Amino acid sequence: MEVARTIAEIRASIAQARAAGRRIGLVPTMGALHVGHTSLIDAATARCDFVVVSIFVNPTQFCPGEDLEKYPRPFERDVALCEQHGVAVVFAPTPEEMYPRDNVTWVTVEKLTEPLCGRSRPGHFRGVTTVCTKLFNIVLPDVAFFGQKDAQQALVIRRMVADLNQPLETVVCPTVREPDGLAVSSRNRYLSEQERRAAPVIFRSLQKCREMIEAGERNADEIRGAMIGVLREVSALKVEYVSLADAESLEESVQLQGQILAAVAAHLGPARLIDNILIDVPDQ
Ligand code: PAF
Repeated sequence: MEVARTIAEIRASIAQARAAGRRIGLVPTMGALHVGHTSLIDAATARCDFVVVSIFVNPTQFCPGEDLEKYPRPFERDVALCEQHGVAVVFAPTPEEMYPRDNVTWVTVEKLTEPLCGRSRPGHFRGVTTVCTKLFNIVLPDVAFFGQKDAQQALVIRRMVADLNQPLETVVCPTVREPDGLAVSSRNRYLSEQERRAAPVIFRSLQKCREMIEAGERNADEIRGAMIGVLREVSALKVEYVSLADAESLEESVQLQGQILAAVAAHLGPARLIDNILIDVPDQ
């Protein structure tokens, strides 16, 4: 397995793979790889025969005061994990390689980036869409893989690819959970033992939502209220949002119908945790 540090190096490997007729898969990551990431890598190796994993803690998607400096960077371990999972090349550029000068060109997706995480993280999605476009332009993947855990990100990227006719397919893979339901995330390591034990309350609130819909409830306020009731079981949890939105437009629902995204963001100690589930609301 190769580790490419520069754009010139990764482009040379990609050119060879293309010349050999390989189907190129890209798994963009910020490193600190866990089973959520390896599930994306496994999905990529199942569908592509040349898999690139990018490891880049993208500074432009962190807001002032966020965890850019302390974001975990266990690089040797990440590289070993990629090798074990059949990755062809790890692309791990420096910030200077990706942003050699003050960046003045940005890719912005409107509307979809405004609600949910967009409200508390201004500029975050602009950083994500810009770095993903740069990665797509550098790696020229046939397919790129993202996790449903970051539902809004996946939707925003899919829309960007469609709106800009970026020549690739995007695949969104299911959220990987711990046995107690907590969605696997690089930021879970910020939790103390006690916070970690409490954190599955977020998934329980999402399950409550599913149960109420299955029992016939369609009023979004009723369900949101019940979810907040579940979340209150953990007094240390500071809820940022509880959203029941149309899964395509991300507009908040009043009466639930079609496919909805139930999503929660909350702070627990030093960690900001997000989770979501997609629910197909049955016609009544
Ligand atoms: O999901 C992430 O880890 C990041 O937002 C991504 C897609 C790698 C862009 O930096």
